[in-house]
Amino acid sequence: MRVLITGHLGYIGPIMIRTFKDAGHFVCGLDTGFFRECLTSETDVPPDAEIMKDIRRVEPAELEGFDCVVHLAALSNDPLGELAPELTDEINHHASIRVARLAKSVGVKRFVFASSCSIYGASDNTSPIDEEGSLNPVSIYAVSKVKTEADLGSLADAGFSPVYLRNATAYGVSPRMRLDLVLNNLIAWAKSTGRVRVLSDGTPWRPLVHIEDISQAALCAAEAPKSTIHNQAFNIGSDDANYRVGEIAKAVARSVPAAHLEITGESSGDLRSYKVNFDKASRKLPGFHPVWDIERGCRQIGDWFDSRGETVDTFQSRRFIRLKQIKHLISDGAVSPSLFWTTKNR
Ligand SMILES: NC(=O)c1ccc[n+]([C@@H]2O[C@H](COP(=O)([O-])OP(=O)(O)OC[C@H]3O[C@@H](n4cnc5c(N)ncnc54)[C@H](O)[C@@H]3O)[C@@H](O)[C@H]2O)c1
Repeated sequence: MRVLITGHLGYIGPIMIRTFKDAGHFVCGLDTGFFRECLTSETDVPPDAEIMKDIRRVEPAELEGFDCVVHLAALSNDPLGELAPELTDEINHHASIRVARLAKSVGVKRFVFASSCSIYGASDNTSPIDEEGSLNPVSIYAVSKVKTEADLGSLADAGFSPVYLRNATAYGVSPRMRLDLVLNNLIAWAKSTGRVRVLSDGTPWRPLVHIEDISQAALCAAEAPKSTIHNQAFNIGSDDANYRVGEIAKAVARSVPAAHLEITGESSGDLRSYKVNFDKASRKLPGFHPVWDIERGCRQIGDWFDSRGETVDTFQSRRFIRLKQIKHLISDGAVSPSLFWTTKNR
């Protein structure tokens, strides 16, 4: 299969490339490169081909000849969404639909969309929510995912199959490592300061999934018979990885025994809390079996941290924190306020 992976120079992208290449597929990456300098490991597997371009400016010819698009490119978390709400809508929603329309127009048959469990947002959590449950997004980012799923649905027809993978919050080691995700971040704090600090009361539900399991799910969705995935949403994670934030912090404290756990409860701003039912993917997404658990994930991230000698200052730098990198590109004049590269760096 010939596969185009957008957003391949992000956190999940390198693992996605490796997963598809290991399965024998031809992989082309497409990315504007906001984090191109944030490579933190030499083990990055290059794609077979690469297009450095903003998805808002992709041409139909660039999408021709692919069997499947795996669409990761996005301003991809809540803080980025709050930095530039209109850009999150423009890139995550409108440009995604533009890419999908163009892909469909040149004969691409399948569109695997990286959605998010955060679309369940402020869930009532009386029972784990499944794909039919109500959507209560509480961030600009999550709203963009809801709108994109809906509009992709209207493009579905006999020749074009969108599939929506609602990923839980990611963790794990990537050649383009991020430390702005809950588990990765707590391990970094524990290792560098000896403290695991949660500012909320720790009660919100936050399911987790390893980036290798996310990539496996995308591969399964790309390879599955059309009838099993056509215009379908799948929650991606596992039922035993529904955690309260306080439980995630306790797992980190167990994994870094020298670290002291503090759940301060001083901040109550985060409305997101969702406990998710992951049955459908394990029953109906052929071949999908998540293999990671939080203890193994803590060890992997902890070993990565130990091997690098990062400090509390370096791990909070723009190399690992997306919001800081985007703010740096804007203040440096490398990108315009609408996040197009200026001639300075291109
Ligand atoms: N990381 C998570 O916890 C998580 C959870 C659920 C869903 N997702 C989704 O998975 C996808 C990948 O996430 P990630 O963590 O790798 O994100 P990331 O921010 O690390 O990478 C996103 C990539 O998209 C690129 N990009 C952004 N805007 C672009 C544009 N206009 N044109 C071209 N490229 C552009 C960036 O340069 C970057 O390389 C995203 O869609 C995200 O919403 C992530």
